[in-house]
Amino acid sequence: MNTRTLVIVLIGVATLFLMAFIKPFSTSESWEVPAKYKKMKNPYAGVEDSERVGQTLYVVHCKSCHGKTGMGDGTKSKSLKTAIPNFTSEEFQCQTDGELYYKTIFGRDEMPSYEKKIKDDEDRWLLVNYIRTLNK
Ligand code: HEC
Repeated sequence: MNTRTLVIVLIGVATLFLMAFIKPFSTSESWEVPAKYKKMKNPYAGVEDSERVGQTLYVVHCKSCHGKTGMGDGTKSKSLKTAIPNFTSEEFQCQTDGELYYKTIFGRDEMPSYEKKIKDDEDRWLLVNYIRTLNK
């Protein structure tokens, strides 16, 4: 093996090491939602929630962390390691209803799963509709 080949091999090995090291940090940032959910149609889009089901569920289950207005400043927020996304931000609101549904129901790490606590599909979508209204 001549010097040039050796240098190329060493650069290759070093790059692999770096990638393995950086990956766990970068993936914890973005939260990929499976395409099936991402494209899911909200069957209750635009439906009037006269009984305020969405808001009630939000106050009971979500407000403690996400805050009354969705700013991520609930009473429990300070004891968490993970930064809480701001529901009023454009970055949050530009996600599809399906993405919000998926993240709400399945959660990850410090974001709890609501698969068992909120079972009714209509309730789940009304909750998504409610967090959509926190856009200001
Ligand atoms: C114990 C605190 C806690 C509670 C309670 C909680 N969340 Fe979360 N939530 C989080 C944290 C922390 C994150 C960020 C998670 C991450 O990025 O890994 C999050 C993220 C989210 C996201 C994804 C935001 C984004 O842009 O990626 C949605 C949607 C969400 N929560 C909705 C809800 C809803 C709806 C409820 C109530 C049913 C709820 N959460 C209850 C802590 C909480």
